[in-house]
This record gives sequence, structure tokens and C-alpha cells, in this order.
Amino acid sequence: MGLSTDEVVARLEAMRSGDLPTHGGRTLAYVYDSGLADADALGRRALAMFASANGLDPTAFPSLLQMEQELVGFAGRLLDAPDGYVGTATSGGTESILLAVQTARDARPDVERPRMVLPTTAHAAFHKAAHYFGVEAVLVPVDPVTFRADADAMAAAIDDRTVLVVASAPSYAHGVVDPVGAIAGTAAAAGARCHVDACIGGWVLPYLQRAGAELPAWTFEVEGVTSISVDLHKYAYTPKGVSLLLHRTAALRRPQFFAAADWPGYTMLNSTTQSTKSGGPLAAAWAVVTHLGDDGYATLAAQVGDGIRALLAGLAAIPQLTVVAAPESTLVALRVDESCDVFTICDEMQSRGWFVQPQMAFGGEPPTMHLTLSAATAPLVPEFLAALADSVAAAVAAGPVRVAPELVAAAGAIDPATLDEAAFDGLLQVAGLAGADGELTLPERFAPVNALLDVAPPRLREALLVAFLDRLSRPRPTTSP
Ligand SMILES: Cc1ncc(COP(=O)(O)O)c(C=O)c1O
Repeated sequence: MGLSTDEVVARLEAMRSGDLPTHGGRTLAYVYDSGLADADALGRRALAMFASANGLDPTAFPSLLQMEQELVGFAGRLLDAPDGYVGTATSGGTESILLAVQTARDARPDVERPRMVLPTTAHAAFHKAAHYFGVEAVLVPVDPVTFRADADAMAAAIDDRTVLVVASAPSYAHGVVDPVGAIAGTAAAAGARCHVDACIGGWVLPYLQRAGAELPAWTFEVEGVTSISVDLHKYAYTPKGVSLLLHRTAALRRPQFFAAADWPGYTMLNSTTQSTKSGGPLAAAWAVVTHLGDDGYATLAAQVGDGIRALLAGLAAIPQLTVVAAPESTLVALRVDESCDVFTICDEMQSRGWFVQPQMAFGGEPPTMHLTLSAATAPLVPEFLAALADSVAAAVAAGPVRVAPELVAAAGAIDPATLDEAAFDGLLQVAGLAGADGELTLPERFAPVNALLDVAPPRLREALLVAFLDRLSRPRPTTSP
């Protein structure tokens, strides 16, 4: 006999105590908190009600099809979708992006070595799609001041192998909206699709705009936009596991579908990468969206907008910090001066009960600190700013983490393709992620680790972290029930 219900719940609670808090507004990445206990409870109830329903077959579970189509309808109104548009619920932003890339590729069987043109700020999910689907990612540097995509440079990168061109609304790292009009226009002229990644902004920007925020057009209002991804599990504040991928027409979506009849079982017929999929996240999203409605989201967006304004005003009193790009959404990236370093500030914030996310140096730009503001964080901005001021003061007192020049040189010289497992064990030790016995350790403070990872070129950082994840996700005595 296994454990009693109470014992199991106690175990779950104990395991969860080491996690970042999902609610309370003090976690400024990974989670989105409306601060509305009723909406959360409703989402959890719907999640449980449909947890075992299977989205594999919409004729067997028509409720899920109905909920999907109603959510697509809601999103279509938000995103100015034209008559004839269609949409699919997926498990998250990455799956929506994977499908957009796969669909663009498969719509063009005439192109032998397909390419997609991306601003360097496009989400890493596009790199994953490139890897999975053999579509070459052509990365185009963004404007060095505004961090928006450079539409002219992207136009110059489009060629007859380009099947997809991408814009973000907004980009995750800097929170700015790309010039979608110009990008979509050149994509259309070249006969390529244009995907707008509104995974993070799609459910909040329209409400900020209705309240007066000025942004150039970025939705289906722009003619050349062929698809848009928008996540419900971000600013629709629904439990994790739902995003939508909208296409301008059914014909554009068709290559997304997959059928396999050539085996003795049921004919597999899928609109997404998953086959069997829980109805829980979709039902939870339907419940929360139906409950909050347009008015609820308008209020939540206004709350976040106020929070961003209060944050920007308060940051002026912390001279060591500057905003990287004028935020056009609900995300802020901050840069620090020479007196301290981002990684130490992040650790200091964590020790004060706040999670902010470090972003590594990229393309000649120094590391930054990323803040995703949820509605629940907005009223806490004064407290957040006080903690930030204290954290910066502590980081200045400690001085910036320095990485020994010989380590910087060594990191630059290593070709990760030549490393064997023993070499990775050694490097993980140097990075402070493994002890002398090779056993993985998670440091109390991440600044020294992050500072080291920061000087590693992207390929080495990827290889090191994959080696780390590989070791982290092996069975260990502490992970068994
Ligand atoms: C702009 C953007 N696109 C895609 C994604 C990927 O979404 P997910 O983590 O749900 O797969 C994110 C996640 O933060 C995002 O901000």
C-alpha cells in the first residue's frame, strides 16, 4: 500500500517548498499572477474537471473542440483576425512556434534548403524549430539603440529560399515591438510567410492600446502577417499548458495537420505535435478567459501599465541601473554600471524574496536583468524598488564578480565539440556546478556561476548547460519517492 492522501499531500508540499512561488507577485519571470484568487480557483477546478479528457480526438471529446474554437474566437477579436481565419490550441509558446515553422516549411516543398529570417532578438524557440525541422535560421542584428528588428536588413536577408520571416510583439529580452508593417510587407513581396510572435504580448498589448498606448500595427491588421502565436498561460493568466496559433486562412494552416493511416491501429489525426493531450489546460484557459472577459483583462492590463510607469519612475532613483530600451509592453530589461554586476543583484534580490532573471551578454551588449511584470506585482512596485535599491547597494559594496582573465581566455579557446564527458565533469567543477567528487551542487549564490557562464561563448555555454542538465536529470537517491 502506498502513502495515505494526507501523507502524499504533505510530501508534495515539502517538495514544493524549494520552488519559486507562483503567486504573490514576487516572481518576475516564469509565472504570471493575476492576483485574483477566484479566477485561479476556477482555473484549477476546470483543470481538474478535464484532466483526463483527451484532445486526441475532437469527435470523442467535442467539448474540447468547442472550447478551443471559442478561445480562438476571443483571440481573433483581440488580434484583428480577418474573416476566414483559423486557429489551434497548443501546449505553449514553443509548440505554437514549432508548428508555425514546420507549416511554413511544408507549404514549400519546392524549396530544397528552406530558410527563415529572424531578428537576433526572436525567441530561442525559433532556434529549436530550426534544429528540429532543418530550416536554416538567418539571424539579422537588431537596431543597436531601440533593439527593434531592422526591417531593411531583414529585407536584404530574404532570398528565394526564405519560407518564413519573423517579428516579435514584443521581444522577450527587451520588451519592444518590431516594425511588423515593414517586415510583413517585404515578406509578402517575396512570397514568404510572416509570423508574429505575440506569445507574451498578444493578450496584453491590445488592452494597453485600447487604453491609449501607441504602437505601430502588429496584428492581422497588417496585410502580410500570415500567422500569430499568443500564449494563454502568460498574460491571459491561465494555468500552464496553453497557447494559440492563428493563421490568416485555413489554406495556410493545412500543412500543420498530420495524419497517419499506415499502421494497424486508429488513424492518427493531429493538429499539433502532441497526440494524446490533456483537456485540462484548455478547459482551465476557457474557464478563466470566460470568467475574466474583456473587462477583466482591460483592468489587469491597466494595473500592469500603472506598475510599469511606477517602476520606471522609481528606477530614476537608482543611478546604477538604466533601462535598456524604452519598454513598449510589460517587460523591462535593465543594465548596470561598472560599480556592480547584474548577477550579484539578482542573488541579492533572491535573498530578499524577489526573483528577477539574469540575461547573459549577447552580441556585444552587456548582461541585463529581466523583469516580467504581472498584475499581482504592480501594487508591490514600491516594495520591489526598495528591495532593488538595497540589492544594488549590497552589490556595489561587494564589487563586481571578476572572472580570472585566464579563464576568460580558456573559455574563448575551447571547442565544445571536442569535449568528452570527463572534460565536461571538469568544466562543471570549474563553473561551481559540481563538487570534487563530480556530484552536482546547486550553489547558494549563482553570481559566480553566472559570471563564468557569461564569458563562455554561446556554443560552449549551451554544451556546458546540456551536460549539467544531463547530470541533473539522472536518478539520484533524493529524487526517488
Ligand atoms: C516572445 C516569446 N515567444 C515564445 C516564448 C516561448 O513560450 P513557452 O515558454 O510557453 O514555450 C516566450 C516565453 O517566454 C516568449 O516570451
